Parts: sequence; C-alpha cells; structure tokens
Amino acid sequence: MKLKKILSTCLLAGASLLSVHANAFWGSDDDETLKLGYLVKQPEEPWFQTEWAFADKAAKQYNFELIKMAVPDGEKTLNAIDTLAASGAKGFVICTPDPKLGSAIMAKAKSYDLKVITVDDQFLTAKGQPMTEVPLVMMAASQIGQRQGHELYKEMQKRGWDVASTAVMAITADELDTARRRVHGAMDALKTDGFPAAQIYTVPTKSNDIPGALDAANSLLVQYPDIKQWLVVGMNDNTVLGGVRATEGQGFSAANVIGIGINGVDAVNELAKSKATGFYGSLLPSPDVHGFKSTEMLYNWVSKDVEPEKFVEVTDAVLITRDNFKQELEKKGL
Ligand code: GLA
Repeated sequence: MKLKKILSTCLLAGASLLSVHANAFWGSDDDETLKLGYLVKQPEEPWFQTEWAFADKAAKQYNFELIKMAVPDGEKTLNAIDTLAASGAKGFVICTPDPKLGSAIMAKAKSYDLKVITVDDQFLTAKGQPMTEVPLVMMAASQIGQRQGHELYKEMQKRGWDVASTAVMAITADELDTARRRVHGAMDALKTDGFPAAQIYTVPTKSNDIPGALDAANSLLVQYPDIKQWLVVGMNDNTVLGGVRATEGQGFSAANVIGIGINGVDAVNELAKSKATGFYGSLLPSPDVHGFKSTEMLYNWVSKDVEPEKFVEVTDAVLITRDNFKQELEKKGL
C-alpha cells in the first residue's frame, strides 16, 4: 500500500523526481555528509597512495567522505575543482602537478568558496613567489637532503672507496622548490664531509619519474667514462632509481654504486629484491602524517572554523635499507 502510494507520487512528480535524482547524483547541499577532496599529482607513487590511505583514516575517524582524485596536469586540476564543487565538497588538500598553478587553483577554489590546504609542494604565484598565505604541510626538505648526503658519505667510507675515482651524480629538478632544497642539501652535506666539490656533477631531469631520471643519468655517465664508483643523489626514490638503473646499463655492479633515495615507501620493491642493487637505501619520512594531518586540518577548518597553521614541517626521517625496511615500515604502520 505504502509502496503503491510512493510510486504514484513519483510518477506524478516526474520533473521534481528528476531533480531529486540529479541532486543525489551530484550530492547537493541537501546531502548531509561532509565531503572533502584529496588531489595528488602522481597517484602511481606509493608516497601519494600512502597519503591517501591515511587521509582515508582521518575521514573514517571524523566521519566525512573523502573524494580522492588524480591531477597529473593543470587542466585536470581545474576540472577536478569543478567536479568537487558540483559534488558539494567544502574543500580539498592538494599536491599540485605544477606549483605555478597556485594562483589559478586558488582563484577557482575561491569562486566556489572551497578551502584549500597544500601538501608536499608549495604553491607559487605566476611570478614564482611562494604563496605563504596558503596552508602547507611538507617535509623538512633541506634537512632530509643533508641527511642523504651524510649517509652517502658514511657508506662510501665504510666501503673504503678511493675518492679520486669516485663521483657524485646529482639528478636535479630545481624548478620544484622542495626538490631543489633536498638535492642542494645533499650536495652541501657531501662537501662539508669532505667530498671534493669538483667531483660533484649535476644533471637536470625532464620528468620526475624513473624514465626521466634514467635519461638524465645516461647523458651524464657518458661524459665521465673514467669514474669507477658513483654516489647517486636525487629528490626522491624514483629519481635515484633512474640513476641507479643507468649505472647498471653502463655495466656498474652493486658494489660500485651507492644510491640513497627519499620517500621510503617508493623503494620497497627495490629493497625487497633477492640480490642487492646499487640502490642502497632510502630516507623514509612520514607520508602517514602528511596524509592524516593535512586532512584533519582541513576538516577542523571546514567544520569547526579552526584556522589551520600556515606551515607544518614534518621533520623525522629514518634510513631504511635491505636490512631493516620491513621493521621500520611496520613501526609506522605502513
Ligand atoms: C614531492 C615529490 C614526491 C614526494 C613528496 C614528499 O612532491 O614529488 O615524490 O617526495 O614531495 O613531500
């Protein structure tokens, strides 16, 4: 009886039924559940998958819906903001594919009254100035880079290499501020430890992935055929992996190459290999904290009007190698 009544009401109110459906589909303001977005530039990196997993944890804890979206370029980023707004979301966390999109992203977000928190990569204005007014959660970039340099030097000494026939391959991505600070931090630390500055060679990568770094490294290796041992520096695991793959291609064995990456979670497959490679280890920061904290800050801002801190720097990092990576990842619940 009740069902019959509902059905006939629906038939009579065809037009309004359609609009109810449209609202249900788009999740209009009538929808009670709070929605927040989490947009990342490179969803293929375990780093960002880990951030998403911990952002999901925050969503569960605070009972809101998290909309995860991949934004590999500017067009997809701006479209994603439209989609988020249409679905009734109130804000988003973002690791932008290009820092210079900062002003465009903020203009669009403001037009929909969406709150924005940046993670990992800081927004820049079109003129290249950091947009310090937009809240940011990121790793201590120079510090982790310095640690990378010191650990490389330490491992080189442990192996008793002849410094005269050793060089540093530093794969740079200077247009990304966090990358520039990490790589330059590593080079500074190596020099401080006593590595000859004249044997530190830099080469820019065209893309922040293994193929890009591999190409860059190959172009560098052919210029220095006399070098017998290489230390590999790069802004993250994929960059260093590309460098190490290039040394393998040129016939270097694991004993003559030391690469230490940054991110940790992106190095798990490599460290789990049955035979050691030139990729010695990785500095594991806290993608769990980045994902959870940025999302929690956004939730508190949107739902309780708690203004987020403008800058949250996450400092801790642990060196994981083939010997300890399982335990260290477990300790962090990764
Ligand atoms: C940048 C890099 C990522 C990761 C994050 C961490 O976005 O591209 O691989 O290292 O920083 O902050």
